[in-house]
Amino acid sequence: MTSSTLLIRGASVILPNGESMLGDVLISDRQIVEIAPEIHPESPTRVIDATGLTLLPGVIDPQVHFREPGLEHKEDLFTASCACAKGGVTSFLEMPNTRPLTTTQAALNDKLQRAASKCLVNYGFFIGATAEHLPDLLTAHPTPGIKVFMGSMHGQLLVDEETTLEPIFAQGKRLIAVHAEDQARINQRRQEFANIHDPAIHSQIQDNQAALQATQLALKLSKKYQRRLHILHMSTAEEAELLRQDKPSWVTAEVTPQHLLLNTDAYAEIGTLAQMNPPLRSPHDNQVLWQALRDGVIDFIATDHAPHTLEEKAQTYPNSPSGMPGVETSLAVMLTAAMAGKCTVPQVVNWMSTAVAKAYGIVNKGAIAPGYDADLVLVDLNTYRPVNRAELLTKCGWSPFEGWSLTGWAEYTIVGGKIVYEKGKLHTDVRGEALDFPLSSSN
Ligand code: DOR
Repeated sequence: MTSSTLLIRGASVILPNGESMLGDVLISDRQIVEIAPEIHPESPTRVIDATGLTLLPGVIDPQVHFREPGLEHKEDLFTASCACAKGGVTSFLEMPNTRPLTTTQAALNDKLQRAASKCLVNYGFFIGATAEHLPDLLTAHPTPGIKVFMGSMHGQLLVDEETTLEPIFAQGKRLIAVHAEDQARINQRRQEFANIHDPAIHSQIQDNQAALQATQLALKLSKKYQRRLHILHMSTAEEAELLRQDKPSWVTAEVTPQHLLLNTDAYAEIGTLAQMNPPLRSPHDNQVLWQALRDGVIDFIATDHAPHTLEEKAQTYPNSPSGMPGVETSLAVMLTAAMAGKCTVPQVVNWMSTAVAKAYGIVNKGAIAPGYDADLVLVDLNTYRPVNRAELLTKCGWSPFEGWSLTGWAEYTIVGGKIVYEKGKLHTDVRGEALDFPLSSSN
């Protein structure tokens, strides 16, 4: 059998050491085989002229809600993975609040099967913690870890009592990822502010203190059992300062582009479209989170892509659902921040790919190096284009960043050596693969 080869010619390649090199990258089948100033393979199957473009490892988005099964009117694995391909996201880790909930091996298998038939990019699925399904949490495979909603959730997936959390932390070794908001405090404040329908009140009901209290509890339990802990979408200055003072080596944290770049001013502009959990915070929180990210207190970036239809979002607060989409814009949003001097392009690569692969033990991804999987994105850092609702591929059809002029849009996205997105066009026949999370090292 002859192998297919893809040559990327003349790109500015971001290397694992953060340096950039002008040169060629040769891909054979699924893997990167050579990186050099000039490569002349005999007869490559395809050559991409990447003059003027920058080659990055594909984004690995470690927190998304893709709504399938059960909530496909908001999004599904096909539409979400199309949005990923357009956004330069080549792998995602998806959350268990679908219908049915992903709390058993059977539900996990169902998602994996659905993804195999319709996902254009690589995928992994969290298993959701409940008080009832403890054995599944220990044996589920393959999964990046256990998702615990300590707050902001209804029904079975809400695990807000210390007595219920304790056995989850005590048993097993695999990663626990927490949505850290204190539900008791939220319930009490919801009553206090019950008659206010301005969505801006959302940030006061689910305030900084609610986030801090839950993060403190998760840290306490993680330390007690030396349990691998990941703090999802950290949103407050207080949590960042807490971790700066006291971050065990087995703890990681992430932040969303929204919590870095949007704040409570957004309610006046986009109303309930700015409503998410944990809520947007103040400009001061933005600043402290940026500094924590630059200093390595926060390890990486996730979008928390959580689409809801415009009709659902048009309901009056608090009936309007929380969440906003992100996979299609996250890389361009962060690269635009880099070009504006808030960080560097290699830092964006680390936060959106390298550090994520490392934290979740995803092998052979997150870097441009021989032997690594050819999950890549070629971006254009020379031109700016606005986020335009009409062009979005997410089923929900809107973005909190509409109108923002961004650079670093993907020109080509490559998954497993295959071009899945090319200058505005999707190749919908390409399929990603299930990510592997070795049971032995995580459990
Ligand atoms: O705003 C949010 N929406 N935060 C979450 O953690 C869940 C998500 C959703 O599923 O809609």
